[in-house]
Amino acid sequence: MSRIVLGVAGGVAAYKAALLLRAFTEAGHDVRVVPTPAALRFVGAATFEALSGNPVTTDVWADVDEVAHVRIGQTADLVVAAPATADLLARAAAGRADDLLTATLLTAHCPVVFVPAMHTEMWLHPATQDNVATLRRRGSVVLPPAVGRLTGPDSGPGRLPEPGDVAALAGVVLGCGAGALARDLEGRRVVISAGGTREPLDPVRYLGNRSSGRQGWALARVAAARGAEVVLVAANVEEPAPFGVRVVPVGTAKELRVAVTAEAADADVVVMAAAVADFRPAAAAGTKLKKGGASEPDAVALVRTADVLAELVQTRPAGQLVVGFAAETGDDEGDVLTHARAKLVRKGCDLLVVNDVSGGRVFGRPDNAAVVLAADGSATEVPEGSKDAVAAAIWSAVVPRLA
Ligand code: CTP
Repeated sequence: MSRIVLGVAGGVAAYKAALLLRAFTEAGHDVRVVPTPAALRFVGAATFEALSGNPVTTDVWADVDEVAHVRIGQTADLVVAAPATADLLARAAAGRADDLLTATLLTAHCPVVFVPAMHTEMWLHPATQDNVATLRRRGSVVLPPAVGRLTGPDSGPGRLPEPGDVAALAGVVLGCGAGALARDLEGRRVVISAGGTREPLDPVRYLGNRSSGRQGWALARVAAARGAEVVLVAANVEEPAPFGVRVVPVGTAKELRVAVTAEAADADVVVMAAAVADFRPAAAAGTKLKKGGASEPDAVALVRTADVLAELVQTRPAGQLVVGFAAETGDDEGDVLTHARAKLVRKGCDLLVVNDVSGGRVFGRPDNAAVVLAADGSATEVPEGSKDAVAAAIWSAVVPRLA
């Protein structure tokens, strides 16, 4: 259990802080909510008190004997300010201590994550951008805002990202430190494939696989938080797009190949996290296969699909980094890493993220663990953690290898 301070500033998106609070408490954390006085005009203290199980105060004159304005920050493991308004970013950048939240920000030794939400004009204003740069330079994480519908009928950058995305990214910072969301992918274009392809047998049936797409989603979310422009080619994943990410939906291996090849043309990094079918039915029936009828199949003839990863390696532009995934089990011919090393050589990619899936591990589970093998022979162990934490470790292996 970690101690999280959830700072809430006065914007309409304060209502989403209640959902974020819920996500933190459900993950087992002890959360102390510190709203600004303006935040309490949007959401009442009772909501935060009930959901956190902790008292809520906004000013430094309450519980003076406990010196709350110092103690709350000093004892926190993570401070998340969501929503962080233009005003809060300005006060934090200026080092002010005019309410309990800004005082807490000045006394916190732990990582701090700002989650901005405001109107587009306010976000894009040079004053705000300077404040964001100042806070980042001092080591705080400032997430980019989501693009979409704002308070009124207008839309643009400035929306608070969905609480699930924020909770996942805050969890990465809690576990791995603020460096896990450094802005080291700024200016980079990243293409990620995720999910599992489905190869039709007839109009209602398909050959598929058990990939949930969650690792690819985490890779996309973390890359966007680290500043990359991200395209996610998603095979049969129902999840909403992570914020800041453009999703290209596909169904079959053939569709995935077309989409990834097109998007990869000017990418700095391509990550093939999708489980792509190696075989597809030689012919998909145009009408439903029926029992007992003339169309009842004796067997299904399969043909090989193209190996997208191997093709990408062959056709990549100079300087592009290609990352493959391998879900392996050990057998009589070798252990997981022996198979994986052979695959890395066979595919010719720069990095191979290896999951040990013996005994049904990984598929559909929230946590993951991996080994990142590199063409230069190095192997980096990524300890068991959330898929977002694993994603952060994968990007940390990618970044030093970028041209
Ligand atoms: N892959 C791909 N195109 C395919 C199959 C796989 O691009 N038709 C990619 C996957 O996205 C993954 C990597 O190749 O990044 C490894 O997939 P895997 O199925 O383990 O590789 P295979 O070469 O099919 O090896 P195996 O014989 O072990 O299945």
